[in-house]
Amino acid sequence: MAIRIEENQKNFYLETKNSMYQIQADSRGVLKHIWYGQRTGRDMSYLLDYHDVGFSGNTYDAGQDRTYSLDTMPLEYAAEGIGDFRSAAIAVTHENGGSALDLRYESHRVYEGKKGLPGLPSMYAGEEKVETLEIVLMDTTGEVRVTLCYSVFADLDALARSVVIENCGSAPKMLTKAHTICMDIPWGDWEWVHFHGRHTMERQVQRLPLLSGIQESSSKRGASSHQQNPTVLLCEKDCTEDAGGCFGAALMYSGCFQTQIELDQLGQARLVMGLHPDTFRWKLETGEAFYTPEAILSWSDRGFARLSHQFHRVIREHVCRGKYKLAERPVLINNWEATYFTFDEEKLYVIAEQAAKLGVDMLVMDDGWFGVRDSDSTGLGDWYVNERKLKGGLAKLVQKIKALGMSFGIWLEPEMVSEDSDLYRAHPEWVIRIPGRQPMRGRYQLVLDMSRKDVREYLYETISKLLHSADISYVKWDMNRNVCDWYSTLLPPDRQGEAPHRYVLGLYELLERLNEEFPHVLFEGCCGGGGRFDAGMLYYCPQIWCSDDTDAYARTRIQYGTSFFYPVSTVGSHVSAVPNHQTGRITPLAARAVTAMAGTFGYELDLNILTEEEKEAVKSQISRFKEYGPLIHNGLYYRLSDPMKENRGIWSFVERDGKAVLVQGILYHAEPNMVGHPVRLKGLKADCLYRIRETGEIYTGAALMHGGILLPRGWGDFMAVEYYLEAVE
Ligand code: DGJ
Repeated sequence: MAIRIEENQKNFYLETKNSMYQIQADSRGVLKHIWYGQRTGRDMSYLLDYHDVGFSGNTYDAGQDRTYSLDTMPLEYAAEGIGDFRSAAIAVTHENGGSALDLRYESHRVYEGKKGLPGLPSMYAGEEKVETLEIVLMDTTGEVRVTLCYSVFADLDALARSVVIENCGSAPKMLTKAHTICMDIPWGDWEWVHFHGRHTMERQVQRLPLLSGIQESSSKRGASSHQQNPTVLLCEKDCTEDAGGCFGAALMYSGCFQTQIELDQLGQARLVMGLHPDTFRWKLETGEAFYTPEAILSWSDRGFARLSHQFHRVIREHVCRGKYKLAERPVLINNWEATYFTFDEEKLYVIAEQAAKLGVDMLVMDDGWFGVRDSDSTGLGDWYVNERKLKGGLAKLVQKIKALGMSFGIWLEPEMVSEDSDLYRAHPEWVIRIPGRQPMRGRYQLVLDMSRKDVREYLYETISKLLHSADISYVKWDMNRNVCDWYSTLLPPDRQGEAPHRYVLGLYELLERLNEEFPHVLFEGCCGGGGRFDAGMLYYCPQIWCSDDTDAYARTRIQYGTSFFYPVSTVGSHVSAVPNHQTGRITPLAARAVTAMAGTFGYELDLNILTEEEKEAVKSQISRFKEYGPLIHNGLYYRLSDPMKENRGIWSFVERDGKAVLVQGILYHAEPNMVGHPVRLKGLKADCLYRIRETGEIYTGAALMHGGILLPRGWGDFMAVEYYLEAVE
């Protein structure tokens, strides 16, 4: 049983293969977080030892016991306003203006399987055996019920957590904070790893010791953002890739979020994670329920590599859906960096023709094919073909591309509108703007109010008409600005605080409908690159364009950060031209290719400009990707270097039975007079002999894991490395 309950003590154990999560309702009904870590098989509450802490108040029902304080004890879902002065998980304003909530245990139930969440992405069980525990807490006034939901994926060492908040009173209440995770960790010396950045530089890894007080990573941008990612990792001080305890949480949400870690006066850490309270207010009428987004949690006692493997499996198999979730992805050619807005059907055809000869599977026609769109200042919203550019229309172009043996994909940015567009002229009231104020522009564009049903209906009709009009196999769903001026003309004043969350719910509803209607279409998420790379979007789009930075060097670092939570099969990555359009850097074609292979693989340049020798190299890259693709996407991914600190970015993919390994990477800057540097491999069978395909050399797994594989001496900057190893006995 994954869920074990000691009924008399109200002790709840969520047990996976290696982890244990313990919650306990004490004699006063206060729900305590006791443990998340290695599976110990016993009640860990013996470690709690609290005494009177000055100025930390005591609940009234504790009588004279000054050691009983909500401000110091580890809580499972801390509420605002009743003497716990740390970051709260939930806050409600009642009809009398007061905002206290005193949640006490009421009941629990356990069932097999896992439910979905209304209107929100969530993990699904599939073939996996999953059990769910629901613990119901009730405010002492009897007016607010909170149900904490935990689904245990025992074999995957993962949990899914979400919360339902109900108004059981007789008047409306205002929810002002509704986090998904709250977890107190009373012991240990923890460090915080988070993933920060900016446009073209997403998910840079930062590891910091916890400081007293609050540290936060969050987004108020209407998208999960380039700047911070809705994932968090807490690790023991000595944790490495291969050893030590760590746990991670990934919020399945694509809008404004907040992760806070507070180190309190006693050195205890509290993690809260969920919807960003600054951009959230939700009016709950009597009898109404609010569902928080879900979060995925996982623990590893063997360092980051194991934790990443757990998240990769969970996201690939229990978040991503549809035809492509486990399928090999088409190698695509995208015309964006080849042409930007300046193209017509001839130019696209010439690009596709060359690509087809070299083995590319799909042409993706990027921004600029619709309305009047010759620059980024016009045309968004007019999702009909610009016949000046594509003479003969879309169906004809698609037919021509298909005749080359390729499939066809198209770019869309449905959530946006240009002021110079037919859509805006017809429906200026559809954009997000505050009455009496001018809206902010971003990339010259305005944002459609996705919380409006009429907007969603229009988009659904328009996009389905487009996708039915030709044989389209892929959609790149872009979003090229953040959202502010939150206001929705259809909401009353006391519901305006709901607009940011309703925007995301609207987006999810539209994506869900389109997924249902077009199950054969591969949707690739995008937000100016990786500005909305999260487990929420991956529920609808099994791959996401990782970054607008296609420079191989910078990209290895972006992909390194991305790999902590997200599987390689979800990482959109392409080979582009040099000098690189974002950095001006020149890297060899081979370096760009190995980098893009650690993703979904494709090209984003006019292959006609390559020399004959380079074209041969591209052919070989594509055939290698087709051979190695299943290993790359299904194998275990290992980070073999830290590209933020070392002069190289090296990684590997290991067959799950340990019998085949692909090592790839880049040696960054050449240095003279160097000794050769080995890189230690991981995940091999110690006693097995492995032959390196490229050199014919044979080594034992033990030698390769403890001594390593000797890397070539760098000659020229950014030299690519690629070795394929097979077990020979
Ligand atoms: C941002 C995307 O990330 C790019 O790949 C490209 O599609 C542009 N938008 C088009 O405007």
